[in-house]
Amino acid sequence: MYLKFDYNNMMQEAIGKEGILPKEFDKNAAMIEAARKTVLDNRGKGWQEWCDLPFAPESEIDELISYCGAIGKKAESFVILGIGGSALGPLSVASALLHLHHNELPKEKRNAPKLYVEDNVDPERMASLLDVLDLKTAYFNVITKSGETSETLSQFLILYSALKKELGEEEAKKHIIVTTTIGKGTLYNVAQAEGFKIYGVGKGVGGRFSVLSPVGLVAFAALGLDVKAMLKGAAEAAKSAEERDVKKNPALLTAFLQVKAMENGKNISVLMPYADSLKFMADFYCQLWAESLGKAENLNGKTVHVGQTPAKALGVTDQHSQVQLYTEGPFDKVVTFLAVEDFRTTVVISDDKTVNACDFLKGHTLNELINAERKATEFALKKANRMNFTIYLPSVNEQTVGELLMYFMYQTAFAGAMLNIDTFNQPGVEEGKKATFAMLGRSGYEAKLEEVNAAVHKKDYII
Ligand code: PA5
Repeated sequence: MYLKFDYNNMMQEAIGKEGILPKEFDKNAAMIEAARKTVLDNRGKGWQEWCDLPFAPESEIDELISYCGAIGKKAESFVILGIGGSALGPLSVASALLHLHHNELPKEKRNAPKLYVEDNVDPERMASLLDVLDLKTAYFNVITKSGETSETLSQFLILYSALKKELGEEEAKKHIIVTTTIGKGTLYNVAQAEGFKIYGVGKGVGGRFSVLSPVGLVAFAALGLDVKAMLKGAAEAAKSAEERDVKKNPALLTAFLQVKAMENGKNISVLMPYADSLKFMADFYCQLWAESLGKAENLNGKTVHVGQTPAKALGVTDQHSQVQLYTEGPFDKVVTFLAVEDFRTTVVISDDKTVNACDFLKGHTLNELINAERKATEFALKKANRMNFTIYLPSVNEQTVGELLMYFMYQTAFAGAMLNIDTFNQPGVEEGKKATFAMLGRSGYEAKLEEVNAAVHKKDYII
């Protein structure tokens, strides 16, 4: 295990009555063990195929690395078309592991194609993308697990047409890789008919649990990232998720602490990385936590309306925006810090003798400053009796990122099991998808269109 978890500030000893008493672990031992067993017994089954992803057959991984690595070598740009779980995994990992200004680097320093993750259908964004892409050297990974998502299919239609116009049909086909469920869905059928290269997402791998499937791995290989090291890190988290002793099982432990916190009115979970490279990890976490745990009914069909609203913050930036609220606002939050012990570079604050001020900063490093500020925020929260815990990454690399992703997925699955809900469905999202189909006139959605039209806003309440 590469990661370290400090949960002192979740406990009463540190933050008084807002915290959790040590005896809660014993009191809830049966519930914790039942949740652990539910998740572990279902590994590889139903919607838990994601548990097997770190252990994918080596031959499959080798083929993916070789094919996508070759694409990455000839591509000037690699464009991901996808949304939700089909975008946030690749985005968060690539942002963590690539140079922070990757796309602006000259080609010889980049050593990989520029990356664009297009997860919206804002017309201006599409037009802007077309303004900067040279289609002759741009390769596209169209990702949709269901193969039906309007946003991704429309992006595909626009860009495939543009490619054909620019390169001709035969060449255009070679610029597209499709990641979808094999044998099912509109995109799969199109990909088969057009002869695109296809990678499969396992039937039991849901969008937000798919980052370690080809949904993420195709891009990681194209960008020259160490896919095998990432899977190794993920396997470490999978191993520690097996631990029966909750105090040795970070995913189970922090799931329990969050569920207890929710019971005590902590309805907001803030993820606050103190590293720009991990900024988009908060987006990944927010989707995973929100879509998995925000549910109307529990598994017994009882109306429960559970969930903890995730929020993202960036240290130190949001110290000057959010932390006032976190320390003095309502007692409704748990803040999780992501701390990096060893940054990939050291920047010294110059000891400029000509500036006769700021002596306390001179000669220190930004590395010291950012970590001092993180500790200072942790101190301020603790002093104000606010629940918080810290996940330490020794450094940001493929192994630690792989472990962090898998930890988040197990933590979510354990929390869902403790809440006795279906962690892996998203009926609220599906409702919106169906309404979109209806409004765009997709056949088979006529009744839905009537329902949508009937819900049209009353004019009386519009000014
Ligand atoms: O986690 C999920 O299941 C969703 O957020 C999906 O990833 C998102 O709706 C996109 O779906 P699809 O990959 O089918 O296009």
